Amino acid sequence: MSQAKENAAMAALDFVESGMTLGLGSGSTAEVFLERLGERIAGGLKVQGIPTSQRTADVAEENGVPLVEPDKVESIQLTIDGADEVDPQFSLIKGGGACLLREKIIAHASERMVVIVDASKMVETLGEFALPIEVDPFGMALTAEQIYAALMQSGCENAQTVLRQKKDGSGPLVTDGGHYILDSRCKKIPKPADTAHMLSQIPGVMEHGLFIDLADVIIIGETDHAKVMELARE
Ligand code: 5RP
Repeated sequence: MSQAKENAAMAALDFVESGMTLGLGSGSTAEVFLERLGERIAGGLKVQGIPTSQRTADVAEENGVPLVEPDKVESIQLTIDGADEVDPQFSLIKGGGACLLREKIIAHASERMVVIVDASKMVETLGEFALPIEVDPFGMALTAEQIYAALMQSGCENAQTVLRQKKDGSGPLVTDGGHYILDSRCKKIPKPADTAHMLSQIPGVMEHGLFIDLADVIIIGETDHAKVMELARE
């Protein structure tokens, strides 16, 4: 486990208070956070969590983090999640772990989102990491054509798209929600808000991995400390 992820996860615990309902993100950094959160719960912290993937639910249970169904809570105070890229405006690319739909539903419903990353995720312009786009399998070729057009029209440098496969090569990866993932190699996404808006207009797009105006705090883990950056929203 990298020390940078560990330091980011530890710093995120400072934002957690007893009584909170937490959105629990997915990915390796979010899993380190779950381990540390489990230790605090064993020490008396009282929180409940909403997992954003089956894998996160499993890791949370292994670490003694109580879970709750999203439809059983009145509010979610805080979501803690990782990211694949973060730009200076706190816009994110997420979905490397194929959990972007549930991650966005929960982040959007949360009062605050804290993102934990290592320094390798910080970029000037989003797009070097292929943008994950979750699509309905029905009519996927038609949807892919519209995605290509939206990406190019919104100024992306490239829009070459591949259907994500399962790691064992046995076919397309299927998300927890029963959809496929198209990964678009944009290279540069100069206007992420425009790109996000255009992708959201395409009926076959269930969700895309651009998280705009959702992150409030970015915690960058380094080998010997963590840097906490907070965005003051109007
Ligand atoms: C999953 C995600 C993850 O947060 C993202 O892929 C980062 O993962 P990791 O912490 O393993 O680098 O968006 O859908």
